[in-house]
Amino acid sequence: MESRPIRGQFNYPTAYRIGAGRVAELPLACRELGIARPLVVSDPGVAALPFFAGLVTGLEAAGLAVRVFSEIGANPAVSHVEAGVALARAHGADGCVLVGGGSALDVGKCVALLARNPGTVLDYEDRGENWKRADAAKILPAIAIPTTAGTGSEVGRAAVIQDPRDRNKKIVFHPQLQPRLVLADPELTYGLPKGLTAATGMDAFAHCFEAWCAPAYHPMADGIALEGMRLIAGHLERAVENGHDAEARAQLLMAAAMGATAFQKGLGLIHALSHPVGGLTGLHHGTANALFQPYVMVHNRALIEARMPRVAEALGLASGRSGFDAVLDWFVALRRRIGLPESLAGIVTPDQIPALVPMVLADPSLETNPKPCTAAEIEHVLRRAIAGDLSP
Ligand SMILES: [Fe+2]
Repeated sequence: MESRPIRGQFNYPTAYRIGAGRVAELPLACRELGIARPLVVSDPGVAALPFFAGLVTGLEAAGLAVRVFSEIGANPAVSHVEAGVALARAHGADGCVLVGGGSALDVGKCVALLARNPGTVLDYEDRGENWKRADAAKILPAIAIPTTAGTGSEVGRAAVIQDPRDRNKKIVFHPQLQPRLVLADPELTYGLPKGLTAATGMDAFAHCFEAWCAPAYHPMADGIALEGMRLIAGHLERAVENGHDAEARAQLLMAAAMGATAFQKGLGLIHALSHPVGGLTGLHHGTANALFQPYVMVHNRALIEARMPRVAEALGLASGRSGFDAVLDWFVALRRRIGLPESLAGIVTPDQIPALVPMVLADPSLETNPKPCTAAEIEHVLRRAIAGDLSP
């Protein structure tokens, strides 16, 4: 039976339209949200792609006054947000169109937050009730068009921004940081190289996995996390092998949005490690997550073992072995097949560990790790990851 192309739209967790070619709906979508002067936020790589020029001319042809901001680095930083806010104000932007991977989306969301609100972006770091400093009515409406399938930032209420003071990645939060509409067009991800397809897909997997393992009561997030892991297991390798696999690309976009929806329940030690390591070394976030996941699984084993049979079932693994071992072996083998690194050797040196441990301990993601961690345990996990040693 021939499968039909994936196409759908729904309003959970925000207005979401998925299907090949749907980026063409952007001018009408701007009109629907009352946007006449959009600031298009992207990164230099995406802004150079052929589709991007068409997107801008499409908006102009519809009578919208467009400005493009694309001076964003691989790790989104305070300076990128400030430059975008300045341009949004100069343009008199009344909305933002965010086109790109997690970096462009996160910067764009912060620009939408700050264009008409006071303060700097780190005033809205996810601590206490900082988010109440913003006047929600002054946040610009944003439309997100993801070009990677990983962070799920297109449906998320947070952004990750690097703090220049300690180079650590800080989480910025506001409930209305969530874009008002997502246009998920799998054709925009066809050109994503194999390495980035693999790394971003593993970020989405880590979101689902850590959300599933987080200890809170949250059956909705659990259900989404399991289905997200099933979609990634079924489609990530296909998309790495053939970037033009329409179904695989669409299912990965969906899984990325599901991961970010599920992790409202919480993340864990994988992300608590990859945030500071990424900030310190520039290691890609998804690559860092894929690298740390098995070591964190071993560390958390006693607390997550009972939850692994359902993961094994979602991944389609044969029964008969312990769920934990089946999931761990599957993950390590998949990571190898899609060409991601297996140890921290050459990325982090042992003498960097003392600086990293306090940053891991301070990362908000650690609060929902199934097993509380001491400084000594975090150091142990980092040493195991450098050695490539999966023993406890
Ligand atoms: Fe992540």
